[in-house]
Amino acid sequence: MDIAASELSPDRIYKLLVSTVMPRPIALVSTLNEDGSPNAAPFSFFNVFSNAPPLLVFGIEGNKRSEDRPHKDTARNILARGEFVVNLVSHAMALPMVASAIDFPEGVSEFDEAGFTPRPSKQVAVPGIAQSPVSFECRLFNTVPLPFNRSLVTGEILHLHVADNAIDDKLHVDPDALDLVGRMHGAGWYIRTRDRFEIPRMTPEEWRARRK
Ligand SMILES: Cc1cc2nc3c(=O)[nH]c(=O)nc-3n(C[C@H](O)[C@H](O)[C@H](O)COP(=O)(O)O)c2cc1C
Repeated sequence: MDIAASELSPDRIYKLLVSTVMPRPIALVSTLNEDGSPNAAPFSFFNVFSNAPPLLVFGIEGNKRSEDRPHKDTARNILARGEFVVNLVSHAMALPMVASAIDFPEGVSEFDEAGFTPRPSKQVAVPGIAQSPVSFECRLFNTVPLPFNRSLVTGEILHLHVADNAIDDKLHVDPDALDLVGRMHGAGWYIRTRDRFEIPRMTPEEWRARRK
């Protein structure tokens, strides 16, 4: 089947994109609300895109829950304060991560509901999530406003936290200790990062020898 994107509604393109581009890493983004309380929400339109400067990007949909507030809290908080923390999600955190996306009534803290422990950051005022094996303290690099109150947020990573049991002095990271999860198709499917295989990088000669 081939389909012109222009013939699909945004909802149907969404369905196709999230069922094909997978697994997607999950950014559990912490921000500070207007009153200074911490906010957390997961975003799987997410990845890193540069190492110098170190940049990550994620996409925020418009807020469909309320016409008075066209932007999700995460987008509003990032624009207001210019900083945020991206926390990666381990298997042990998967259920609370999903809970943090629940549409709780105004004033209910996702940190409290999900049982996340705020961890003071080193270079931004926004706390990270102590349970997360990897957190990136970020300063807003830029945002690209998109139709329907969506936005693409680029953050510059200022500070990295990696769980001590997952990294050594040479900065080798143990993927089993991180035990990260990714988002799959549909609304509720996830995957662990345990089914791995290795293909070393090759010179042209090594590749040709291998093809024979
Ligand atoms: C695993 C997962 C991934 C999600 N990815 C996105 C995403 O990429 N973009 C988005 O706008 N919402 C995404 N959501 C929904 C938001 O997390 C949800 O709307 C959240 O309540 C927004 O919170 P906020 O208003 O505090 O920013 C995702 C939800 C889950 C469970």
